[in-house]
Amino acid sequence: MRLLVTGGCGFIGSNFIRYIVRQHPDWTVVNFDALTYAGNPENLVEVSAMPNYHFVRGDITDTAAVRNVFIEGVDAVVHFAAESHVDRSIHDASPFVRTNVLGTQVLLNAARKFGVSKFVQVSTDEVYGTLGETGYFTEATPLAPNSPYSASKASADLLARAYHETYGLPVIVSRCSNNYGPYQFPEKLVPLAILNAYEDKEIPVYGDGKNVRDWLHVEDHCRALDLVLQHGRPGDVYNVGGNNEHQNIEVVRTILSILGKPESLIRFVTDRPGHDRRYAIDASKIRRELGWQPVYNFEDGLRETVNWYISNLDWCHRVRSGEYRSFYELQYGERLGIGQ
Ligand code: NAD
Ligand code: TYD
Repeated sequence: MRLLVTGGCGFIGSNFIRYIVRQHPDWTVVNFDALTYAGNPENLVEVSAMPNYHFVRGDITDTAAVRNVFIEGVDAVVHFAAESHVDRSIHDASPFVRTNVLGTQVLLNAARKFGVSKFVQVSTDEVYGTLGETGYFTEATPLAPNSPYSASKASADLLARAYHETYGLPVIVSRCSNNYGPYQFPEKLVPLAILNAYEDKEIPVYGDGKNVRDWLHVEDHCRALDLVLQHGRPGDVYNVGGNNEHQNIEVVRTILSILGKPESLIRFVTDRPGHDRRYAIDASKIRRELGWQPVYNFEDGLRETVNWYISNLDWCHRVRSGEYRSFYELQYGERLGIGQ
């Protein structure tokens, strides 16, 4: 199996590649990543010297670069590459439309031209919009995205669906809830709260802090994607989530308590515009059909995650200061522009 992973230097992609090379040592992984601000090759330092791992720096909107990767041979694709932060999408939607919509279409087109056995479109529960106090998102829930980020992911999902219906491309869409775990860029709630709390800085909590997210450890997501890749039904959607709903304020309080820090560090700030109130996933289909179930419980997973960030303060420092941008430069002799 020669597996093309896009966006493998980001949070979930790097966890996925580490998982796959361990789980399937006979597979070859090609990681295609543009190294935007969210891409950090240092996340994959453990695998970078392995003979069955190859890194190609490239942008998924670049048709020629994508074609060059497919020419080398690709059996299947797991597509993570995206702009992924809701707050950034509110500030400027353009890179989200470019990468998440156009980039996905370029990849789908190449997969169609060259032929692949599976194309996994890694999507999010955010495409379903928001829930009230009750109910769950199922695979049949209509798409109703509320942020430019989720609208761009929903658009990509619809293109993926269309390539299956029109051209018979064996596309599968997975829609997962919020992930937490090691190597997450510290602009997202969990690592931001851990690092701010550790440094006795205030933690910004949007609105009343009662928005609910359904948290899943990144490794549980990676196992779900491996199952979807190997056994998922082309043309289908699989929701992934751990029945693990928590209000943001509870998550922040738990992190503070793990670190032994005072709740006075919590600072309620102006709410995010269009802030979805509640996400909750009905994952019964993937449990029933593919035998998936999460392994982590949230309390242990969060404690382990806090420990990971505190044990990897050098990594955190390099990411927060922008120093991580020089890793690729040192390894490959190519200069990266900050903020690319
Ligand atoms: P991330 O922001 O940490 O990483 C994104 C990666 O994509 C980076 O390595 C970046 O360099 C790369 N990339 C961005 N634009 C690119 C382009 N034009 N060409 C090539 N590479 C490019 O994101 P993440 O949190 O790891 O999320 C990965 C995927 O999973 C995304 O598609 C996201 O929508 C989805 N997802 C994320 C979550 C979550 O909680 N983080 C939950 C469900 C689904
Ligand atoms: P985030 O990690 O950005 O993920 P998403 O927006 O994709 O769910 O945010 C998780 C929740 O935490 C979301 O409800 C917004 C909230 N949040 C804060 O309250 N403060 C923060 O500083 C951040 C980044 C997020």
